[in-house]
Amino acid sequence: MKPTIEYLPGFEELAVKRLPKMGREQFLRWAALLKDRTGMRFPDNRISFLVTNLGMRMRQLGISDYQTYYDYVQNGRQAMVEWDKLVHHLTVHETRFLRNENVLAMISEHYLPEMLGESGAVTPTTIDVWSVGCSTGEEPYSVAMAIDDFMIQRGGDYYLGITASDISRDALAVGRKGIYSRKQIKEIEPDWLDRYFTITDDDKFQVREALRKRLCFNHLNILDVGKMPIGKMNIITCQNLLIYFDKEQRVDIANTLVEHLLPGGLLILGVGELLQWDNPLVERYPHENTLAFRHVH
Ligand SMILES: C[S@@+](CC[C@H](N)C(=O)[O-])C[C@H]1O[C@@H](n2cnc3c(N)ncnc32)[C@H](O)[C@@H]1O
Repeated sequence: MKPTIEYLPGFEELAVKRLPKMGREQFLRWAALLKDRTGMRFPDNRISFLVTNLGMRMRQLGISDYQTYYDYVQNGRQAMVEWDKLVHHLTVHETRFLRNENVLAMISEHYLPEMLGESGAVTPTTIDVWSVGCSTGEEPYSVAMAIDDFMIQRGGDYYLGITASDISRDALAVGRKGIYSRKQIKEIEPDWLDRYFTITDDDKFQVREALRKRLCFNHLNILDVGKMPIGKMNIITCQNLLIYFDKEQRVDIANTLVEHLLPGGLLILGVGELLQWDNPLVERYPHENTLAFRHVH
C-alpha cells in the first residue's frame, strides 16, 4: 500500500499552479535587466534557477505571466520595494562563520602583526574593515572576532569599525540582529562563543552588543559604489561575490575596491575569483589558500 504523504497547508495548491514556460525572448529580457541593475550573470544554464525564483515570488503575488511581473518590478509605487524582494530571491546568500580559516589566520597572524609593528603600543589605534557582499553577517562577525581576539592578546585600546554591505536588504536585516541558530554557530570554539555571544530565551545565539556595535550594515549594490561615501580601509574582504560577475566587471570591481584601500591596506578576494589581474597599486600578499593583495603606496 502506498504511504500517505502529508503536505503542508497550501503546498498542493502551489504545486498544481504551474507557471508557464519562459520563452527565449522573455529570458533574455530578464537576464539583461538583472545584469544591468545588479551585475548578476544569467547564462542559458541558469534559466531554471530564474524561472523557479521568479515563479516563487509571482505566486505569492498572484501574478501568472512574466511580462506582467517584469513591468511590476519596474513601474509604479511598489516597484522599488518589489525589486529588493526579487533581488533577495535571486541572490545566493550561502555563508557561514569561519568560512575560510586561512583568511582569518592571515589577518591575525600575519597582516595585523605586520601592520602594527613589533612595539608594545597599539598603533594605529583604528582598524577599518569593509565586508563587501556580507550576506547575513557571518563573514564580518568572523573577521571582527578574529581582530578583537588578536587585539585583546596584544593589549591596549583600539577602535574597530566594520562596514558590512550587501545588495539584499533581507540579508542585512539578519546581520543587524546578529541572531543565529545552534547549527550556524557550530564551528565557533567555546571560548569565542562565551566571549562574543549571549544565549537568547529561545536557545539562539546573539552576537554581544559590544561586538555588534562595531559593525554597520549598509545597503549597497557594488556596481553603485562610486555613489556612496565609503572611506579608505585597512582591510577589504570581497569573497564569494565576484563569481556572479563576468570577467570585465570583476576587474572593474577589484580596481574600484583598491581605490578604497589605505596605503598598506589589504584586499581579500575569494580563491580563484580573479585571475590574471594586474593593478600597479597592489602586490600579491601571499598566504596559503587565500587570494589577497596589499596596497603598495
Ligand atoms: C555567496 S554570498 C557570500 C557571503 C560572504 N561574503 C561569504 O563569503 O561567506 C554573496 C552575497 O553577495 C551579495 N551580492 C550579490 N550581488 C551583489 C551586488 N551587486 N552588490 C552587493 N552585494 C551583492 C548577495 O546578496 C549575497 O549575500
